[in-house]
Amino acid sequence: MGSSAHYPALRHRRKRRWGWIREMVAEHRLSAADLIYPIFVHGGSDAEPIPSMPGIERVSVEGAKEVAKRAADLGIPALAIFPVVDSELKTDAAEEAWNPDNLMCRATRAIDGLGLDLGLVCDVALDPYTSHGQDGLVRDGYVVNDETLEALSKQAVNQARSGASVIAPSDMMDGRIGVIRQALDTEGFQDVLLLSYAAKYASAFYGPFRDAVGSKGSLGKGDKRTYQMDPRNTDEALREVASDLDEGADMVMVKPGMPYLDIVRRVKETFQVPTAVYQVSGEYAMLHAAAQNGWLDGNAVMMESLLAFKRAGADAILSYASLEMAQALRI
Ligand code: PBG
Repeated sequence: MGSSAHYPALRHRRKRRWGWIREMVAEHRLSAADLIYPIFVHGGSDAEPIPSMPGIERVSVEGAKEVAKRAADLGIPALAIFPVVDSELKTDAAEEAWNPDNLMCRATRAIDGLGLDLGLVCDVALDPYTSHGQDGLVRDGYVVNDETLEALSKQAVNQARSGASVIAPSDMMDGRIGVIRQALDTEGFQDVLLLSYAAKYASAFYGPFRDAVGSKGSLGKGDKRTYQMDPRNTDEALREVASDLDEGADMVMVKPGMPYLDIVRRVKETFQVPTAVYQVSGEYAMLHAAAQNGWLDGNAVMMESLLAFKRAGADAILSYASLEMAQALRI
């Protein structure tokens, strides 16, 4: 690899001496086109800050339209929408998930109606709608797989009807990609994409997200370790990705991001398919908290983290910092 020259004929620093040469030899670049911006929509009319996610707010459906326009203006290709569901609407069976007029559908329809060239990624999992905060249906204290699949299909079709361009199952049930693909196709949604949260780990980095959508209280002392992956495993991530691709996933995702860069790299090298990575709420919170304390340069560390995803092989990055970074990339 490289030339056989060595010092003093070879000087690596020559290619770092000036800005122009650093630009010229840069191997990876981050652009707004790499980003997917996750947003939280609530039923209220005013924006509400989320204390554990500095700079991020829960927005109204009207507010979400404004955010969508801003994102599109900045060249961000897609939004990921998460609903903050009123606790009165949460039930054990999550029926609100397939109500055609639920918050998620209203937000999707409203943004879709703007006619922007903007992808709408709709999360499929029952946790915003279940009184127990689990992603699936619970029988005798266990999240049951096959019954949950039926509920997820209904949820996915409901979201496709409201204008979802991408269905993103984040529930980690076995077989969900195949079942959802078939349900979408039966209903005429052949062109709706499937982005599978294929390697999603049972991570403590999701804490601020659960504050944001209000599922933390419902989940209580519960955890998701009987379906989300064990952080000790790597080979298993490849088996998860293989199953989801086999069942028809168009794109796969690794989540969380920075603590799992090894997984991003292995998935990309093994399968060579479009691979997304999710810089989750806890990662965002850590960097922002340190920046607020004056301990880190917030913009610089955020940019460096996103670049790390590109280096690891990611094709798309879900990040709560998408707007600020797209703005910064413009200057
Ligand atoms: C729920 C879901 C979670 C996230 C996205 N979809 C949380 C969880 O699995 O408990 C986490 C995102 C984040 O932390 O930013 N299915």
